[in-house]
Formats: sequence, structure tokens, C-alpha cells
Amino acid sequence: MLTCPVCQSPLARQDRQLRCDNNHSYDQAKQGYFNLLLNTAKSSKQPGDNAAMVQARSAFLNGGHYQSISDTINQLAIDHLLQNAQSTSQILDLGCGEGYYTERLHTALSDHQITHDFYGLDISKDAVKSACKRSKDINWLVANANHAPFKKNSMHLIMNVFNRIMPKALAQLCHEEGRVFIASAGAYHLQQLKEAIYTTPKFVEFDAIAVMNDDFKHEHRQTLDFTMSLPEDSTKHLLAMTPHTWRSSPEIQQGLMAQERLDLRVQINLDSFSLKPISERIYGVQDEAQNDNNEQPDI
Ligand SMILES: C[S@@+](CC[C@H](N)C(=O)[O-])C[C@H]1O[C@@H](n2cnc3c(N)ncnc32)[C@H](O)[C@@H]1O
Ligand SMILES: [Zn+2]
Repeated sequence: MLTCPVCQSPLARQDRQLRCDNNHSYDQAKQGYFNLLLNTAKSSKQPGDNAAMVQARSAFLNGGHYQSISDTINQLAIDHLLQNAQSTSQILDLGCGEGYYTERLHTALSDHQITHDFYGLDISKDAVKSACKRSKDINWLVANANHAPFKKNSMHLIMNVFNRIMPKALAQLCHEEGRVFIASAGAYHLQQLKEAIYTTPKFVEFDAIAVMNDDFKHEHRQTLDFTMSLPEDSTKHLLAMTPHTWRSSPEIQQGLMAQERLDLRVQINLDSFSLKPISERIYGVQDEAQNDNNEQPDI
């Protein structure tokens, strides 16, 4: 299933190493992940979320504030995979971060006896190192989603949770009968936080359906809209895991963190997509990593 990032030949696993027929080899890190990120596919020395953001995200997610998002994704996945049985379903979490949603879906599928191989991929080494602690049964990879090292059209389920969407890359990866789940922030996600931080807060809906439209048919949308009540330490973690922090003054941050409970609106869209038949796909050349229309609002 895995392919060599240098020559695109299949990779075979021998103990703690992946190797292709052209003798390119990749050693397993001591934490358990494989690094398939070529230097040429890096935008910076340490791309993706940094260690502090990863730690904050992990602490925030462990607080359970987004558990209903994870539960809804899991139910959608179980429903789809039970109706579209494969001998072994291939599942990918693209931009998995520190692995909260990945591990919970893996456990839910195992509980439902759905046989699967699970891959969690992120460009941030810090995020993947942290993810390794969540499960030893998931194939954790440091790689670029835009050059994801998998056989073409091999994934029965791909989840893309709060990441930039790369529809052309997703179309290359998704099995003809597969599904892509996109979680994105609705217009009023973290409404009170934006109102506290910005003079003119923007409440704009991110249009995942339009971004995916060239290659994917929209199947289903479920919107989660609820209020979470954050204790002080969770507010601190939420601020530290998103770029909102960089845009707000220390005084505003202190003010938010001083509140014993901070009530914040959560508004999330979960969209499910299937691949359009080849004859209906629209081919266009675009650099998806640079296309700002595909950038999701901060989560
Ligand atoms: C907002 S976080 C979401 C992480 C996780 N899905 C979650 O919701 O907890 C975005 C993630 O995308 C990763 N990322 C950014 N660009 C990427 C790329 N080109 N390939 C793979 N991962 C990428 C970042 O390192 C970060 O972990
Ligand atoms: Zn190779």
C-alpha cells in the first residue's frame, strides 16, 4: 500500500525498515513512526504544527470538549464501512496531528470488528511523535499530504479533520467506492472568542463543498452546533493550539483565561464525499499547498 516517496515503487516492510525495489530505505523511528518526508517536500525545516501547539492540542482534546465531533465521525465511518464491506479496509487520517481522532476511530472500528489498516499522516514530526503514544497499532507517518506515499486510489476512507483541503491529492488517494470525510469550522465556530479578539470579527462560512466540487460528489452534511464550557486550563490550551494567540494581545488572552468558565459556541460541519466518475472530473493544474481558497478557518 505504501509507496516510495523517491521513485513511487511499492515499499515492503522488513522488521523496522521500509524498502523499495530500487533500494531506497526508511528506518522506523524509536517512537514507532516512519519518516517519508523528503527534504524537497518540506516548506521549512520544521513544517506543520510545532511542539508547543501539538502539546496544547493534545491537552485540549484530552479534555473531551470535541468528543462529540469524534463520535460523529466514527458513526459515519462505521455506517459506511458496514455497508461497503472490504476484506481489509484501508483508512487514512490526513493531517492527523497528535492522533486524537485517529486513535478513537481505530478503537471504534475494532470494537465493531471492522478489519482495517489504519494510517495516520502528518507533516509535523512533533505531532506524529506525540501520536505514537496514543496507539502502537496505527501506521504513523511523517509525510506531506500533497505527495502522500500511497498506491493510487487505495483508500476506502480518508478523514481530513480541520486541515487545509487538497482535493487533487484526495482524488489520487480515494478508492473509486471510497469516502472522504471533511471536518471544517462553521461560520460561528468559536464566536465569542473571535468577538473578544478581533475588532471586526468575520463570520464567514468555509465552503468545503465548492472546494471539493471538481472531483467529488457531496453525499452528506451533518452540522454540530453546541456550547462548550471551558475551565481555565482548557482556555489556555485552546488559545495555544491555534493562530488566534498570535493575533491577540497578552491582555486579551489574560482576560479570557481569567474567566473561571468560558462558554464558547462550537459549530462544525462534517461533510462526506464520494469520488466522481473519471468522465465527470474536472482537470486543472493547481498548487494546492499554495491555494488559499482551500485554507480552512482556524480551529
Ligand atoms: C489544525 S491541525 C489539525 C490536526 C488534527 N486533524 C486535529 O484536528 O486534531 C492541522 C494539521 O495539519 C498538519 N499539516 C499542515 N500541512 C500539512 C501537509 N502539507 N501535509 C500533512 N500535514 C499537514 C499540521 O502539522 C497539523 O498537525
Ligand atoms: Zn524508491
